Amino acid sequence: MNDVSKAVNLLRSGGLVAFPTETVYGLGSDALNDLSVAKIYAAKGRPSFNPLIVHVATVADALALGEFSSDALMLANTFWPGPLTLVVPRRAHCKVSLLASAGLPSIALRIPAHPLALELLQKMGLPLVAPSANPSGRISPTTAQHVRDGLGGRVDFVLDGGPCAVGVESTIISFLDGHPRLLRAGGLARDVIEKALGQTLHEAQAGPLHAPGQLESHYAPRAKIRLNATIWQDGEARLGFGTMDAELNLSRKGDVVEAAANLFSMLHQLDQQQAAVIAVALIPMQGLGEAINDRLRRAAAPR
Ligand code: TXA
Ligand code: MG
Repeated sequence: MNDVSKAVNLLRSGGLVAFPTETVYGLGSDALNDLSVAKIYAAKGRPSFNPLIVHVATVADALALGEFSSDALMLANTFWPGPLTLVVPRRAHCKVSLLASAGLPSIALRIPAHPLALELLQKMGLPLVAPSANPSGRISPTTAQHVRDGLGGRVDFVLDGGPCAVGVESTIISFLDGHPRLLRAGGLARDVIEKALGQTLHEAQAGPLHAPGQLESHYAPRAKIRLNATIWQDGEARLGFGTMDAELNLSRKGDVVEAAANLFSMLHQLDQQQAAVIAVALIPMQGLGEAINDRLRRAAAPR
């Protein structure tokens, strides 16, 4: 039996399987099974008010679960499979566990652009919920080893697809009140989405109903983080960018796409050096720089 078939069998019997996507590794479970969805919250130690993204194999599968406006459908057709999650109203007879939506009348959907994830979804024939496969509040995993280090025995199987190409989570856009809103900057840059829509994205509205996952302290390494470093100080672990160089450099050529792919992996490595402080070079806000700076700001937030 190959690894994907093994994963499908485990998922069908209510198990938890971590799998690679182009963004980060997800901790997957059958989205229709309340018990296995509950196991995900338990394995991550995740606050129950923070809903999960439902992963599907095709746009038609997504349309069966959520109500798409014409703009939402256009984004799905343009960018799926890809690092974009769409939050839309749940259909009345949507079979996805209510626990996955954390009781909200909306549902978050995406098709991941990774051959193993797509093969898994197709063979499974059911949607999979998959938060990032890390303990809640910790750095997201971009390799199978990160998943094993963080979740260990709490996951039944890890499908290993090598390092994730994008390296930061999907961009989340909601379509709940007529306006497309950016809930989370991520692997698909804002300007690319705005160009496709022909309009600028609105900001997320405050409050748990709209951006429930946007907890201030998140992605936290054990060390404290010092942001926007323009000089290095003694005793700090260093994360460079461009000409602000260090042993670990997110991108020596100053490329934010390369930096996103390296971000979580390098934070994991630096955290293992047991330094009290990790200093991170200034990263420009262009393109994926917005998502990188968002993750770094949360990692640096007081806990
Ligand atoms: O790239 C990704 O999106 C990865 C991979 C595995 O697909 N998944 C991921 O999941 O980042 P997670 O659980 O770490 O983040 C999901 C985010 C949370 O911030 C959550 O609050 C938000 O999606 N979300 C889920 N359902 C929502 C909803 N109905 N309304 C608003 N936000 C929602
Ligand atoms: Mg996460």
